[in-house]
Amino acid sequence: MARPISGDLQHLANVAREAAWEAGNYLKPYAGRAGKLRTKSAPTDLVTKIDRATEELIASVVRRSFPDHAFLGEEQTQEADASAETRWLVDPIDGTTNFVHGLPWFAVSIAVERRSELVVGVVYDPLREEMFQAVRGGGAVLNGRPIRVSRTKRLAEALLNTGFPHTFRQHPKPLLRRFEAFQSITHAVRRMGSTALSLAGIAAGRIDGFWEEGTHPWDIAAGLLLVREAGGRATDWAGHPATVWNKRPLVSNGRLHAQMVAILKRTG
Ligand code: IPD
Ligand code: CA
Ligand code: CA
Repeated sequence: MARPISGDLQHLANVAREAAWEAGNYLKPYAGRAGKLRTKSAPTDLVTKIDRATEELIASVVRRSFPDHAFLGEEQTQEADASAETRWLVDPIDGTTNFVHGLPWFAVSIAVERRSELVVGVVYDPLREEMFQAVRGGGAVLNGRPIRVSRTKRLAEALLNTGFPHTFRQHPKPLLRRFEAFQSITHAVRRMGSTALSLAGIAAGRIDGFWEEGTHPWDIAAGLLLVREAGGRATDWAGHPATVWNKRPLVSNGRLHAQMVAILKRTG
């Protein structure tokens, strides 16, 4: 259930939502028409000038209200101010590969942390016009309506999501082993190409669990808060509470968590 939240957190959340909304509207017409592609860490790690421009747009919306806050964006268009106690964690397009190919499954992800604690998370899917929002202690909502994780208790009845890191080509075997282990005992495992939307999907009860290797803070920050505020659990693969710096997040509706930890332990 959505619960009352303080005025300053509400202000942060409003600005995060406004930034995600403006960014999403900017992005929409470029889906499948992003122009020239460049690659970053690997041949599969794509980036376009729209990623950069979107991040700059988000930063300009944030700076209008909060000029002193630190800003860590995937595209590194802004200077990160290490002394600020409030920091924005931004992925302007989560799902760039889908965006580039015109596959309608990508999102804008914006989180705010204060003294290293996540306080606001927003994931916006501009093509479906779905705005997921969580505020610490205030619950999670989708387009203003409270959301909750699923009640699925058994992996045999679960729909899971995962992602593959851009280092896949160097060590595919363990990644495929884990995929096979979960795919063999669940309804299905999807690999949909947007970590932020996978986590938002868990918060909304559409997806039951998620694991990945090689994530960055901007991929998971908003989603971690969404899932926790929707009643789910976010840890590393061993079951210790996840931070945004976790490279191996395990996120679930809570009920499936121990079963997923056991499979990840077994598959190494
Ligand atoms: C990627 C997506 C993908 C995940 C990768 C991320 P990007 O983010 O979230 O689902 O598997 O680990 O890098 O590059 O589209 O922002
Ligand atoms: Ca990302
Ligand atoms: Ca991105």
